Amino acid sequence: MTEQRGEAGFKPRLSPRPRQIPERCIQMKLSTERLELRPLEERDLAHMQRYATRPAFYRYIAIEEQTPETIAEFLEKRLEEQHDNSDRTYFAIEPKDLGFIIGATRIEIRSRDHRQGDLGYALDSDYEGRGYMTEAVQRLIIFGFEELQLHRIWATCDIDNDPSWHLMERVGMTREGVMRDDKFLRGRWRNSYLYSILASDREL
Ligand SMILES: CC(C)(COP(=O)(O)OP(=O)(O)OC[C@H]1O[C@@H](n2cnc3c(N)ncnc32)[C@H](O)[C@@H]1OP(=O)(O)O)[C@@H](O)C(=O)NCCC(=O)NCCS
Repeated sequence: MTEQRGEAGFKPRLSPRPRQIPERCIQMKLSTERLELRPLEERDLAHMQRYATRPAFYRYIAIEEQTPETIAEFLEKRLEEQHDNSDRTYFAIEPKDLGFIIGATRIEIRSRDHRQGDLGYALDSDYEGRGYMTEAVQRLIIFGFEELQLHRIWATCDIDNDPSWHLMERVGMTREGVMRDDKFLRGRWRNSYLYSILASDREL
């Protein structure tokens, strides 16, 4: 077969085949060594009401004081979204040896044209310090690049939320900078770190 050449005699550059980003986020179960990541369920409510109403849980998150009622509303909205196939996918994090939720992680398609998404996470403080969230977020990033066909996944956290930015660095995200006064949280303006990971970073 003769090699095709452009008018100027150069070999034409083949543009990479555009990847298809799904119409909606995908609801599915994922598995890691120690964890099941699965859609949220009604049975998660009591566990979420136990851990997510602790002030330390939402200290750095831009939400009001959490009560059993606000958590019930939150879960109800997430269950509706799952049903409606929104752009956002939440995964309940369930250790295989426990069989109940100890936190949740979320990924959201933010731009189809630019294949951008962001992620978030929150863990029951009784289960911190064991690497569970690192394991969950590592799997979520693979899901974002392989299933959702994202090009870049970003996340932010309050600059004082050391466990959160430590986690982002552990999973291979790069700090892009500080977003100044990007949140008004409990009476004061707060700065956030912006982190991201590119699909190509995984090939380095
Ligand atoms: C942010 C948050 C998820 C971090 O929790 P975490 O327990 O530090 O994260 P992990 O579950 O990944 O555990 C990592 C810790 O376990 C340790 N660890 C133990 N075994 C590990 C393993 N197998 N793999 C990785 N880390 C392990 C790590 O060294 C690390 O501890 P260190 O920070 O003292 O070094 C948690 O603090 C949280 O949910 N906070 C409340 C909600 C919130 O702020 N969310 C983020 C909003 S931006």
